[in-house]
Amino acid sequence: MSSSRIRVVVLISGSGSNLQALIDGMQRGELPIEIAAVISNRPAVLGLMRAEHAGIPALVLDHKQFDDRESFDQKLAQLIDSYQPDLVVLAGFMRILTTAFTRHYLGRMLNIHPSLLPKYQGLNTHQRVLDAGDIEHGVTVHFVTEELDGGPAVIQAKISVAPGDDAASLAKRVQQQEHIIYPLAVKWFAEGRLRMRHDGVLLDNELLSPSGYLISA
Ligand code: GAR
Repeated sequence: MSSSRIRVVVLISGSGSNLQALIDGMQRGELPIEIAAVISNRPAVLGLMRAEHAGIPALVLDHKQFDDRESFDQKLAQLIDSYQPDLVVLAGFMRILTTAFTRHYLGRMLNIHPSLLPKYQGLNTHQRVLDAGDIEHGVTVHFVTEELDGGPAVIQAKISVAPGDDAASLAKRVQQQEHIIYPLAVKWFAEGRLRMRHDGVLLDNELLSPSGYLISA
């Protein structure tokens, strides 16, 4: 691996399609990253197999083996840090993080969330968009802070909600956008173009709008 690649640790809980988009970009030579490890809090998920298939160390740290959130997050941070990452990527990592953990990785941890944040933090975003009668929906990549789904936005992709849509069809179109915007955000970070500051996100030294760089599908 060339020294101009940044080291990335990816955290997952499930299917790992976003992880796959990063692996594909890396293997095509489009992303100057080395995925040093993939860590799942759930055993035997598809994302672990994707990592193994790509020759990436795939580890399980099962949260059920820990008494509390603090001790799990402490152990997780130890494990992550043993790979000395420049960036931690949460790719469908379905855990609420402790403040100590988020502070430790402040400015070097990204998350992807399937809504146009700050709308619909938390779970079941697609159904909540339908229930509210929204005509647009989307996905946000953001830096992680101690506020759940609340850190400053890097990129948002918007999609239109069509009359016949259900939660599954929305999830599918949102995920297509995820696989475009997450590699792009990681690429910017890897190229040293992206930085979190106290007042927001800088891309090429310019402050982005609060909703981040906008892509419309
Ligand atoms: C993605 O849709 C991601 O936006 C969502 O989990 C899915 C993981 O899919 N994340 C969250 O809801 C975080 N709050 P994947 O395992 O196929 O990448």
